[in-house]
Amino acid sequence: MKILGIETSCDETSAAVVEETGDAAKPWVIRSNVVASQVAIHREWGGVVPELASRQHVRDICGVVETALADAHTTWAGLGAVAVTQGPGLVGSLLVGVAFAKAAAAAAGLPLVGVHHLAGHIESVPLHHGELPMPAVMLVVSGGHTSLYLVKAPGSYELLGRTRDDAAGEAYDKVAKLLGLGYPGGPIVDKLARTGNDTAIRWPGTRLTHADRNAPQLKGDLDFSFSGLKTAVLRHVTLRREQGTPLTEREIADICASFQRVVVKTLVDRTFTAAQRHDARSVGVAGGVSANSRLRADIMAAGESRGIPTFVPSLALSTDNAAMIAAAGLRLFRAGITSPLTINADPALPLVAR
Ligand code: KG4
Ligand code: ZN
Repeated sequence: MKILGIETSCDETSAAVVEETGDAAKPWVIRSNVVASQVAIHREWGGVVPELASRQHVRDICGVVETALADAHTTWAGLGAVAVTQGPGLVGSLLVGVAFAKAAAAAAGLPLVGVHHLAGHIESVPLHHGELPMPAVMLVVSGGHTSLYLVKAPGSYELLGRTRDDAAGEAYDKVAKLLGLGYPGGPIVDKLARTGNDTAIRWPGTRLTHADRNAPQLKGDLDFSFSGLKTAVLRHVTLRREQGTPLTEREIADICASFQRVVVKTLVDRTFTAAQRHDARSVGVAGGVSANSRLRADIMAAGESRGIPTFVPSLALSTDNAAMIAAAGLRLFRAGITSPLTINADPALPLVAR
């Protein structure tokens, strides 16, 4: 069966066709994955402007879906279902995808599957590599989320820890902004960090030791916090600017490298603490920040030294895309889960453990 996936949760309009293979070890193959990026529109404003994002989704969605079907050499008649990101995300952006998917499913007589955006990111790993040895610990690290999940069986996601404040990608974007580097900041900081000295400034990492009163069911020591590090970078840059001379290129590269060392070390350490605690037989990393060159290198090295197979998706599957939503949709569909045509976009949709 082929499924059409649609993703419009933030600033990428994406549609993809994913087909089942019949092979339980590698269940899905990507037939097309079209992404129309709005980066050029939002760059001028230094971040995503929600109203501009939703208007652009309206302009792009029909062409992106038509291209995804054409690239996959299929038509509506060749599909078995339509999957769409229902949340979380920007509500105006989500609404465009959800309304389109509902209308398309109704018109083509296809079942509809509402997908959680983070389930999509998690499924990007088996979409690329095939099913992981279970139990697996998954680090989902993006612009809106930084969370650790225990996956005991395919499609079941148990939250182990999450950020108490900023997501890692958000911290990257904010540091880039305060250094005047442009948007989106993650890839720019990543590039500059490669030329800098990562121990030029020894910012500490944050280790949480107590449960969050808002989530007492989590122990808390697998949670993350990046806002203190972001403030430390801000204070460093402000004090340095008060000296009256602009930051040199060398200093900016050193700041990027030092910031990145702390973020990546925190992510890698916490992931393997979780893996050890839960006897994980594999580790996966997904979400936009999994495109980071140092995170990819360090987490693979950490997995190798601990003897835990570690998997990162391809770069195209790391950042937002509809192929991962299609894969997560197929997972739900095969578990007998579809959505009524009455579903609505939900900007705060929870990822429920199954
Ligand atoms: O998953 P994603 O495409 O969208 C969300 O669901 O948020 O993630 C976007 C985030 C942005 O914060 C972006 O700066 C970050 O991923 N990102 C990176 C890199 N590429 C994208 N962060 C660090 N290094 C990168 N190479
Ligand atoms: Zn995402």
